[in-house]
Amino acid sequence: MSKKKPAKRIINNASRSFRIFTFGCQMNENDSEKISGMLKALGYVEEMDVNKAGLVILNTCSVRENADERVFGNIGAYKTVKKTNPDLILAVCGCMMQQPEIVNQIVSKYPQVDLVFGTHNLHQFPELLNNYMVNGKRLVEVWDDSDTIVEDLPVDRKYPFKGFVTIMNGCNNFCTYCIVPYTRGREVSRQPDKIVAEVKALVADGCVEVTLLGQNVNSYGNDLDETVNFASLLRELNTIENLKRIRFMTSHPKDLSDAVIDAIAACDKVCNYIHLPIQSGSTRVLKAMNRKYTQEDILDRVSAVREKIPGVAITTDLIVGFPGETEEDFLETLKVIELCQFDSAFTFLYSIRTGTPAATMADQIPDAVKHDRINRCLEVLHQISHDINQTYQGQVVEVLVEEPSRNNPERMTGRTRTSKLVNFPGDPSDIGNQVMVKITAAKTFSLDGEKIEQEDTHGAADTDDDPIPANS
Ligand code: SAH
Ligand code: SF4
Ligand code: F3S
Repeated sequence: MSKKKPAKRIINNASRSFRIFTFGCQMNENDSEKISGMLKALGYVEEMDVNKAGLVILNTCSVRENADERVFGNIGAYKTVKKTNPDLILAVCGCMMQQPEIVNQIVSKYPQVDLVFGTHNLHQFPELLNNYMVNGKRLVEVWDDSDTIVEDLPVDRKYPFKGFVTIMNGCNNFCTYCIVPYTRGREVSRQPDKIVAEVKALVADGCVEVTLLGQNVNSYGNDLDETVNFASLLRELNTIENLKRIRFMTSHPKDLSDAVIDAIAACDKVCNYIHLPIQSGSTRVLKAMNRKYTQEDILDRVSAVREKIPGVAITTDLIVGFPGETEEDFLETLKVIELCQFDSAFTFLYSIRTGTPAATMADQIPDAVKHDRINRCLEVLHQISHDINQTYQGQVVEVLVEEPSRNNPERMTGRTRTSKLVNFPGDPSDIGNQVMVKITAAKTFSLDGEKIEQEDTHGAADTDDDPIPANS
């Protein structure tokens, strides 16, 4: 297909419609919400059918090889979509675009892509889109890094009652397996007053739950005034009236200070839930990963969290098959999983990321070994999840109702403060409310329950109703 476009492409109102696909993490999702916010501010409307949309945006992720592959598969499919919808503008953005070799591949092999931008110049999107429409020529604009955070972009949130709030961009940790520091640049924290203002505006808009986002929220504020840190931010946000729940992710074990744990424990709005990715239980592997903590540190932090935060749920991320991981190292990971009693975990096969130190390390682990280890890991994790969930049987928990259950529209689904998924017979009018639910059945990945009628659902919000999981 030749890349000749009309010098001036006339865009009529019919094509002012868009569809965004998000491939990555919550930060990526929050970026998509900003892209959508900017487009809606320009008068664009969402169009789910890509054969009719005027604009399709693929917001990419590069964290593992299969994420890259999915994106390339998707881009490939637009060659056909463009035959039925020749006016379509295809824009590709996100973490993959921060890697020059990937952009080169797109430029040379995928003429169907019209516009490429990166994570650091997302705010430029309306201008780039306009330039593309005026010139009709493929436009590639990616910034290497950025030391500022562009404030006040419109955000088109997926749910009216809960929202993501990015508190910092980037990552300084350079774990040896990870591409994120290369795609998101160095850590830049937002000023606390900007975060507070955003949360207050969300609450004024009817939001009751916020999730604070950062690659390592525990190091929030290291680049700001020395009185500002994650603990002080939590305490400040906790004073916002009518806000009911504060969540955050992700916590890096190396920076999970007593001050942060104390703040979580002291702030009634901060949920008793913590996502604490340990990656491995072997001190030797953790060192090779450049995680900067040991097995003992993990056990120490987990017991401090359990001691100070009643009923806390702890989840984690694990990578199996990191280069050089021996059977003994893996058994250490299984041991730590047992000792920590994680409520659940995201488990990943180590995936080579070109440009990271681990990609060229000796002793890459064969796929068959990785698969065997992940299966053994899941077996242990599922048993623990199942056992912890059993302790919820008969308990009454507070659920923030999110949407009808995927399998049965007569059932509603929502989450406890400990982030457990609960399904119960309910009504769409419950969506966005906190309701009390009595748990009647516990499964490995979710709980079933029945709504308990009560007079004042909001009064329940500030109480801590979750039961104490096993072994805490
Ligand atoms: N900043 C977060 C993680 C963000 S990436 C943290 O440090 O906890 C999300 C998860 O993807 C990581 O926790 C890790 O488990 C996984 N991951 C990252 N790079 C990976 C790779 N190369 N192979 C497999 N899993 C990886
Ligand atoms: Fe990646 Fe490590 Fe940074 Fe997390 S802390 S984003 S795993 S480099
Ligand atoms: Fe993926 Fe980028 Fe998030 S690589 S996991 S979208 S920070």
